[in-house]
Amino acid sequence: MSKKKAAKPAPKKAAAKKVAAKSQTMMTENRVFKPSAEFSKKARIGSMAEYRRMHEESLKHPEKFFGREAKELTWQKPFTKVLEWKCPNAKWFLGGKLNVSENCLDRHLVGVNKTKAALIWEGEPGEKRVLTYQQLHREVCRFANVLKRNKVKKGDRVMIYLPMIPEAAIAMLACTRIGAVHSVVFGGFSAESIKDRVLDCGAKIIITSDGGYRRGAVVPLKKNVDDALKSGETAVETVIVYRRTGQDVHIEEGRDVWWHRELEYVDAHCAAAVLDSESPLFILYTSGSTGKPKGILHSTAGYLLHAQMTCKYVFDLRDDDVYWCTADVGWVTGHTYMIYGPLSLGATSLMYEGAPNWPENDRFWRIIEEYAVTVFYTAPTAIRAFMKWGDEWLKKHDLSSLRLLGTVGEPINPEAWMWYHTQVGGGKCPIVDTWWQTETGGHMITPIPGATPTKPGTATLPFFGVDAAIVDDLGQEVGKDEQGKLVIRKPWPPMLRGIWGDKKRYQETYWSEFDGWYFAGDGARKDKDGYFWIIGRIDDVLNVAGHRLGTAEVESALVSHPSVAEAAVVGRPDEMKGQGVVCFVTVKEGIATSRDLADELKKHVRKVIGPVATPDEVRFAAALPKTRSGKIMRRLLKQIAAGEVIKGDTTTLEDLSVIAQLAASGED
Ligand code: WT7
Repeated sequence: MSKKKAAKPAPKKAAAKKVAAKSQTMMTENRVFKPSAEFSKKARIGSMAEYRRMHEESLKHPEKFFGREAKELTWQKPFTKVLEWKCPNAKWFLGGKLNVSENCLDRHLVGVNKTKAALIWEGEPGEKRVLTYQQLHREVCRFANVLKRNKVKKGDRVMIYLPMIPEAAIAMLACTRIGAVHSVVFGGFSAESIKDRVLDCGAKIIITSDGGYRRGAVVPLKKNVDDALKSGETAVETVIVYRRTGQDVHIEEGRDVWWHRELEYVDAHCAAAVLDSESPLFILYTSGSTGKPKGILHSTAGYLLHAQMTCKYVFDLRDDDVYWCTADVGWVTGHTYMIYGPLSLGATSLMYEGAPNWPENDRFWRIIEEYAVTVFYTAPTAIRAFMKWGDEWLKKHDLSSLRLLGTVGEPINPEAWMWYHTQVGGGKCPIVDTWWQTETGGHMITPIPGATPTKPGTATLPFFGVDAAIVDDLGQEVGKDEQGKLVIRKPWPPMLRGIWGDKKRYQETYWSEFDGWYFAGDGARKDKDGYFWIIGRIDDVLNVAGHRLGTAEVESALVSHPSVAEAAVVGRPDEMKGQGVVCFVTVKEGIATSRDLADELKKHVRKVIGPVATPDEVRFAAALPKTRSGKIMRRLLKQIAAGEVIKGDTTTLEDLSVIAQLAASGED
């Protein structure tokens, strides 16, 4: 297949080069870490030869490979065809019928798993709850009946805005039980973000709680929902409120109902709906390069299979593991690796409600010790925070139960990898650095812990069914150690099925850069062993502490402020968060710039999008540097934001004097 799409404009390339330059300044660590013989012997995949054989089969004979793997799911009706691919639309396991909640719950009730812990939960204030598979099943069935009672039907969208409490898992699984499509919104998003998402997916019901705990404070979740619904624009008819904190909340008669009251009206019997393999499972919003977040749509069978399969092969989860994924349920990692993957496999998944530094910096290590956590999955930004807080916090705790560590969210710098390996893993735990995205549903490039020799900073090799390559703008594979664009050349079972309500954007965003291939938006290079080194986003998307943030979203939040005329937002390297958010702002005629106004704008962005998007810096300028065609010169702004000397060709600038002005316009 030849790739003949026209070359992309230069700015993207320039941006990519710059990130590359940054990554080269990091410490280099050339050691290779092989899995121990002991780990490999017990692991499901114990050698590179076996990984290679399976990977080759998965690409050459996907029908055979995935047809066989899919037998590990419980089917209400077997599928008749593995794949139908008409780019960009994939259908997997055609003709099959199954139910996600049945796979995650009912099928574990027949053996010893019935009384096994499905979820172990700890609240930030310190409460503890354990739900066995039998108990979780019961709660899910009851809540599914509550949904039915509130007129939720198959295919309806249900918005979930809850803290990290078991009820989040219960609500999600209850949706899957009746074939409703959930859309979880992270508790760190604002009222306006909720409103945008509710409007986009057309949800008629929201599930929330009075509040949630975060770093000792109470987050006003119900209040945010009230504010989101205030204008009356949405179609929301019902809000189900779980009582978590006990704080006073407004209850709107005729619209709001209490979770615990509703339970009084239902019994615990709810048959799992018979659903198609391609039945929509959930929508999860994520940032893109325009101001409007994309509703990434996932479907049933392929997603669940991959979630289960990666928990089996990448986390190598066993009956006696206590597995902890620290991600919030509002992100895809929380969906796939706190709930669906581990539960489908019948594993024990730990869930912690709050912050890692509450009441003190050792909360995570305390939890690992207390529950004897064996497999731990977290983000590089968290690891860097732990490093900063100092080793003494770990030393207070026995972490010897750990046997496998994982990371996700952004490239991990070798220093952080080494610290994770030695200080947390005691030098004995393999680390799986997993590259994937909201769109991919689950792990795409990752070590297999009993097989793959790892090197700090690389996610290593593609998972089964993943045909990853690094190409230039014309679609030609680049040479060893050369940087290019990361593409996936074949459909894979848990791939996104679309952007909710926007076929055109789906096609344009992912499938038009290279005809027939998925373009991930990341830059990467491959080393002599074929290992993938992810460099980072090459589109206008930032990765702030592992959270995806579109620069256009922040820009549109800024210009919604009455004082702002124009805004351009760029990332700058940040030691802790990976990237920080820097805003260049021009104000309207007659408005005076001041530090107070800068602070006000930061608060404004926080209010419009949520705390996740809080700018690190707001800089005022008389004008933004633009090309003759009126495009903001982001490359230049990035250099200014990073405090670098301005390089490169600026002859197309309309007003050269603005450079000097900008470079000297720091807040202080
Ligand atoms: C972007 C996806 C996947 C769940 C969490 C983030 C970056 C993710 C890695 C990794 C280097 C990584 C990429 C990707 N990313 N994991 N192991 N190494 N970069 O999901 O919000 O959809 O963001 O996160 O840039 O495109 P997301």
